[in-house]
Amino acid sequence: MSLKELDHTTKRVLMFGGKGGVGKTTTSAATALHFARAGQRTLIISSDLAPSLSDIFETEIGPVERPVPGADNLFALEIDPDQVMSRWKEKFGPEVYQAAAALVDLPYDEVVDYVALAPGIQEEFLLDYILERVRDGRYERIVWDTAPAGDTLRLLGLPQRFIEHLRVAPRVYLEVRDAFGLARTPFLEIIEGWKALSEQTVRFFSDPANVEFLLVTIPEALGVYQSRRVARDLERHGLAVRYLIVNDVILDGDCPFHRQRKEMQRAYIEMLRQEYADRMSLIELPLLPYDVKGLERLGEVERLLFS
Ligand SMILES: Nc1ncnc2c1ncn2[C@@H]1O[C@H](COP(=O)(O)OP(=O)(O)O)[C@@H](O)[C@H]1O
Ligand SMILES: [Mg+2]
Repeated sequence: MSLKELDHTTKRVLMFGGKGGVGKTTTSAATALHFARAGQRTLIISSDLAPSLSDIFETEIGPVERPVPGADNLFALEIDPDQVMSRWKEKFGPEVYQAAAALVDLPYDEVVDYVALAPGIQEEFLLDYILERVRDGRYERIVWDTAPAGDTLRLLGLPQRFIEHLRVAPRVYLEVRDAFGLARTPFLEIIEGWKALSEQTVRFFSDPANVEFLLVTIPEALGVYQSRRVARDLERHGLAVRYLIVNDVILDGDCPFHRQRKEMQRAYIEMLRQEYADRMSLIELPLLPYDVKGLERLGEVERLLFS
């Protein structure tokens, strides 16, 4: 099986997840290259704290989206959490302050910094930031190379916690207001507005019409257990995984060591098949004799994934 059927997808966002080191960056970069070569304006975003797009494209990629030299239609961006945070403060800071100023008398920065530490808000920033890029309409396709598995789940789950957090805020506010006899302020409306925004964002990313989630794994015990957990958790968030990329598959065992490893891998691939083949496409990517760096080798991976 191959990723060829993705050619016809209308989904704007392709999210790649899985544990560290299994090939998320490699497969997402090859996929982004594929869409770009098909003439679609494509942005690849890495939100890993240890991003490696610069390595794989062999050019400096930073927190501002820029074209990848040598690949028409391909743009890349490595997210810098500090910058996402300051963008959020610019966008929402005045509102946050206005809301809080009704309750407490504190300097602007203190209020905004404090609110920015609320649970789930970092994830909310990130989703909002990526959604902005989806909505600005400059890209036909956005490929998102996510942080290792646990973080991706936090990302999808925490905005819910953020919403919960906001849900109690009006109650606290009402109590404080009654206690101090404060006049009604736009505080409640602001909170309601955020809640709506946050819900909208989470809804976008959990809508299968917008997002395809591709899970990357390796045919080893840890890989199999991890994918089981990730798939289950994603499904709980309403995201169905329809593609499972099994990376590092040994094709030819031409020495006893590799023959043995190949046997071991076959057993795990069989397990994955039995568990997922009814609802996912399993795509095997062979273990290559070199690191995947540069457009030429990425092109190799692209051919292997899409042919
Ligand atoms: N099929 C493969 N064959 C050989 N090396 C690979 C393969 N897939 C990935 N690699 C290499 O493995 C390392 C980790 O891959 P990477 O895509 O960075 O993983 P992740 O983003 O999941 O942490 C990189 O050095 C990459 O070049
Ligand atoms: Mg990576």
